[in-house]
Amino acid sequence: MSAEIKKPYFSVKDIHAYYGESYIVQGVSFDVEEGEIVALLGRNGAGKTSTLRALARLDSPALKRGEIYLGGLPIHPLQAYQAAGAGIQLVPEDRRIFGGLTVEENLILAQVAEPKGWEIERIYEHFPRLGERRNQDAVTMSGGEQQMLAVARALARDVKLLLLDEPYEGLAPVIVQEIERILMEVRKLGITTVIVEQNAVAALQLADKALILDMGQIAFRGTAKEVLEDEDLRHEYLAI
Ligand SMILES: Nc1ncnc2c1ncn2[C@@H]1O[C@H](COP(=O)(O)OP(=O)(O)OP(=O)(O)O)[C@@H](O)[C@H]1O
Ligand SMILES: [Mg+2]
Repeated sequence: MSAEIKKPYFSVKDIHAYYGESYIVQGVSFDVEEGEIVALLGRNGAGKTSTLRALARLDSPALKRGEIYLGGLPIHPLQAYQAAGAGIQLVPEDRRIFGGLTVEENLILAQVAEPKGWEIERIYEHFPRLGERRNQDAVTMSGGEQQMLAVARALARDVKLLLLDEPYEGLAPVIVQEIERILMEVRKLGITTVIVEQNAVAALQLADKALILDMGQIAFRGTAKEVLEDEDLRHEYLAI
């Protein structure tokens, strides 16, 4: 019998990232298995957004050291558009929905770049609200509907790793539940997700694993359940 060591699907090894001279992401490492949801938590300014941006290979912050692999493919040498082509989709906090374009035009635009993901009709089957609003100017939709569109747009682009920055921000609890339902469906499809959230409890209820960032370094790694059950940890790093 050969003892094959299974490599993690998404692997982040000792990444360091800077805004100019400011040293922000200070040696972050973690592994995620395919289809897992990881909650990346921590106080304001801990470096969560910066970490997601470095993983999506945006220019800023500049990744100066470290390695990133997705399905064995090295991501660290890539530029943002190439990382997107490899299946890494960042949904930023402001969601970047295009105004003046309808819901459907936003989805069509996402499909311009190769490789394509889901067909538009399939997206509407999973997001009936978007189907109902296909001809509506996308920025006139509610915050929750815009968040759905942001996730749907990632699916239209053949997402393999979904990076979500505060997807629940500004949303009513009932809409948060709807986004959660969508993210659980996304997990069933085998898509791997990293979710950054101020609403740590909501993120932990969804997540398999948890990471807590503090001053650009990982202060805790474990299961989501461990964080939910550890009051001291929550007080120290999450203020909940
Ligand atoms: N463009 C930038 N230029 C310089 N410093 C920045 C820039 N963006 C963020 N920073 C700094 O990097 C640190 C980490 O910021 P980051 O936005 O990653 O934190 P965060 O954990 O996402 O916080 P929040 O919960 O408030 O969104 C902060 O000290 C912030 O001031
Ligand atoms: Mg942030």
